[in-house]
Amino acid sequence: MQPTTDQTGRITAASFLVTGGAGFIGSHIAERLLAAGARKVRVLDNMTTGHFRNIAPFVNHPRFEYVQGDIRDITACNTACKGIDFVLHHAASGSVPDSINDPITTNNINATGFLNMLVAAHAAQVKRFIYASSASIFTDNQTTPLAGLPGNPESPYAVSKYVNELYADVFSRLHGMETIGLRYSNVFGQRHNPLSEYAAVIPKFVMQLIKHESPVIDVDDEYSHDFIYIDNVVQANMLAVLTTNAKAVNQVYNITFEERTSLNQLAKYLREFLSSFDQSIAGVKIMNAFTQKHNVHPYAYIQKSKKLLGYNPSYSLRDGLLKSAGWYWAYLPRFVEEAVTKKQQRQQVAAVSA
Ligand SMILES: NC(=O)c1ccc[n+]([C@@H]2O[C@H](COP(=O)([O-])OP(=O)(O)OC[C@H]3O[C@@H](n4cnc5c(N)ncnc54)[C@H](O)[C@@H]3O)[C@@H](O)[C@H]2O)c1
Repeated sequence: MQPTTDQTGRITAASFLVTGGAGFIGSHIAERLLAAGARKVRVLDNMTTGHFRNIAPFVNHPRFEYVQGDIRDITACNTACKGIDFVLHHAASGSVPDSINDPITTNNINATGFLNMLVAAHAAQVKRFIYASSASIFTDNQTTPLAGLPGNPESPYAVSKYVNELYADVFSRLHGMETIGLRYSNVFGQRHNPLSEYAAVIPKFVMQLIKHESPVIDVDDEYSHDFIYIDNVVQANMLAVLTTNAKAVNQVYNITFEERTSLNQLAKYLREFLSSFDQSIAGVKIMNAFTQKHNVHPYAYIQKSKKLLGYNPSYSLRDGLLKSAGWYWAYLPRFVEEAVTKKQQRQQVAAVSA
């Protein structure tokens, strides 16, 4: 997406706060805003799942600021929002199993932390509050995504994301705040958090193929996934910042590519692309061991995102995998090792303080 001169002016004049900006999606947004000439890009993160290596490419940029802080702390949120025009709120606990094991922590971060950010952004009179929601608010009810309505959330994580949408809506109606929610499906690409459940099958298959182990497909081809490449997600965030269409504001959008891919097809793409780094990967067999019938998850439709926001995703799954295969090959094994160590450290701290 090439911004027009007018749009470039809007970005160069503005200051941005990206919460969770040391994570996968947030770091890409921060990087793109800096490249587009943003007057200031501030990241607020507590490094739970984020990492300095994600912000390393731009940490010394003169218009970049890193603030270590926790969105559960309203003072940290107030400080981070000072002098900010646009908030792009991405800090969250993104794990569905963690939310089932410890719903209180997920609620504190994803619901209370979200509310803290909304209150702080309102007090700082920011121009617009853009936030990450999730396609997980849809269940297997086929009609709700089409209507844009949430189904019955299946986890405390999904509830927290739905609560975000409700709070944003009520703040826009009560206080005239401009908010835009972006419901991502399964995001993948460079800096993918390997322990995220989103698109988790991609790092899993990559690691197996790198070790010459066969990916095992235990579901039939009807069970397909809705993957989205990170550049499409960044485009949606840029459009949410830039839109001057009054009808596009105070809305929630599905952000995906509108493409369903079977796990078989995904494994074949990965085998093809990774074999350009190690030819013997081409000979690794993909095993089919169909043992279970899963619910087919609903399709998230993007007509509204296209019409109101001008969203026009340009990378299919295949395009995105082609662009990111080199990164997965070169960096994923180290990312996995570090993420596992970090998770163990978090569990040890939690066990000691319990
Ligand atoms: N990755 C996906 O496929 C996907 C899909 C749907 C929605 N989302 C949402 O997008 C957002 C970003 O996800 P991601 O994949 O980049 O995850 P990520 O784990 O890579 O990034 C989240 C960031 O938030 C930070 N963070 C967590 N708790 C915090 C706290 N209390 N205070 C401050 N910072 C905190 C983490 O350290 C991390 O840097 C999240 O809100 C997630 O729920 C992601």
